[in-house]
Amino acid sequence: MDNIFPIFNSLLSVHDKQKLLGQRSLVVWLVGLSGSGKSTMARSLENELYQRGHLTQILDGDNLRSGVNKNLCFTEEDRKENIRRAAEVSKLFANCGIVTICSLISPTNEIRALARSIIGSEKYYEVYIDCPIEVCEQRDVKGLYKRARAGEIKNFTGIDSPFEVPETPDLTINTAIHSLEYCHNQLVENILEKIKPENQ
Ligand code: ADX
Repeated sequence: MDNIFPIFNSLLSVHDKQKLLGQRSLVVWLVGLSGSGKSTMARSLENELYQRGHLTQILDGDNLRSGVNKNLCFTEEDRKENIRRAAEVSKLFANCGIVTICSLISPTNEIRALARSIIGSEKYYEVYIDCPIEVCEQRDVKGLYKRARAGEIKNFTGIDSPFEVPETPDLTINTAIHSLEYCHNQLVENILEKIKPENQ
């Protein structure tokens, strides 16, 4: 079949845009249970990178689901579509030279492999925000675990919907064991190394 969508190419490359911004772009893909600390880590990373002169964009599951992913639920199929769209959007930001911080549960190996394949291994940096479900449930920041236990929310990750622990994350951060400051420093240190401008 003929390709009716010929590829549009900009005259500028990602290298041009990275040079303009003085950074290498990256998609920091934060994986973990609800309540594990993904959004907290995303916010503090963004803040620190801003202080150091880096341009970032956060893509948070909750926010995306109130806009671009508004029509999606939490079935396996919809979660896959949720991740596919988030990965495609991340790719656009990364191609613009921006450090993109994604905070999405991304519960299965298949889903994470999909994100990696869309973004490309060179730009995809997977961070597992490791926290036992007991601790997430105890924190229950949004009160959702309580509602899931009461049967008010179906297909809740870790309760009646699976979460597969990432097998080969680029980095693991344990928010149950370490202080917020320690976790933050661990993340920042690793990301700064990855986003150094190309000539450094
Ligand atoms: S993902 O599985 O498709 O990656 P995503 O990160 O977008 O999930 O959304 C997770 C957020 O949606 C949670 O942090 C929580 O606030 C909310 N949520 C609502 N219902 C569910 C559910 N059934 N399972 C998990 N999270 C849910």
